[in-house]
Amino acid sequence: MTPAFAPRLLAWFDLHGRHELPWQHPREPYRVWVSEIMLQQTQVRTVIGYFERFIERFPDLPSLAAAPLDDVLAAWSGLGYYARARNLQRAAQHCVDAHQGRLPDDFDALALLPGIGRSTAGAILAQAHGQRHAILDGNVRRVLARHRRIAGDPATPAVQSRLWAAATGVLPDTRLADYTQALMDLGAGICTRANPACLICPVADDCEARIHGEQALLPTPRTRRARPLRQCTQLLLTQAHGRLLLQRRAPVGIWAGLWSFIESNDVEGARSSLRELGLTADALELHSQLRHEFTHYSLDIEVRHAAVTEPAAVTDGDTRWFTRTEALALGLPQPVRRIIEALPS
Ligand code: ADE
Repeated sequence: MTPAFAPRLLAWFDLHGRHELPWQHPREPYRVWVSEIMLQQTQVRTVIGYFERFIERFPDLPSLAAAPLDDVLAAWSGLGYYARARNLQRAAQHCVDAHQGRLPDDFDALALLPGIGRSTAGAILAQAHGQRHAILDGNVRRVLARHRRIAGDPATPAVQSRLWAAATGVLPDTRLADYTQALMDLGAGICTRANPACLICPVADDCEARIHGEQALLPTPRTRRARPLRQCTQLLLTQAHGRLLLQRRAPVGIWAGLWSFIESNDVEGARSSLRELGLTADALELHSQLRHEFTHYSLDIEVRHAAVTEPAAVTDGDTRWFTRTEALALGLPQPVRRIIEALPS
């Protein structure tokens, strides 16, 4: 008979898993939490450097809670999905107010914090405290949908609940921290979306997808609706010495709190923004056109450039001139970052 799932996975992990990730040494709740939030939408190799700098800047939960939001966004700068950084800080502040400055080790209290859903709460408690909780992130969903041959759109409640039942059903009784990491490593390195390495997979023997030759069909792709398309014009305003004008966005809405180019619906709107700032420009030259995909819509951005000669008027705290280097250290929306990176230094 094939041994249970977890022992094979753990034996594989001991030899081939990742044991040198910075959040494993020490595997302590605050560090595990920060790493899990970063890893929600970003790959391990990108996260490592960000994680180390973030922990150096905010070494513990109270220091994160007390920091200016701008510093937190700046430390997140380049990772994208900044709602994660804002939620991280709000959660830290809540822990200072309600949990003596520590991350709770109780599942329900933890899962109530902003940015922490069922899977992330399970991942934190399993890794930091060895508690017995299942996880179900994108990688694990793929492993289990294949191993148990669970078909259907994973976003639907019926499929979700079968996947959670599978995830809970294969949990071991010990070594939960290693097991959790092992499952993620298997999903990232062996049970990959394209061309999974079934020949060297420790749980291939009883993998139903492999037995039926359905690795490429599972998990079932989501049915996506077409996203609506919106448009805007952004102003790249520069001075002779290369400084550029950025405006801090409102604290709610898209790219909340990030520094961005001044944005309007269209070129006419851009001209009136210029007038309101007390600036004049001969022409608003077309600089570039790009499309940014949000979860619920696509945004076509037309970037217009103007060189400005009377820069003094506009320093009000939330609208400021920055050098290219200063700008790149701020929390910036990804398309704005791309444009600034492409400017000559
Ligand atoms: N994704 C989420 N958490 C992870 C971890 N600890 N290691 C690798 N990938 C992950």
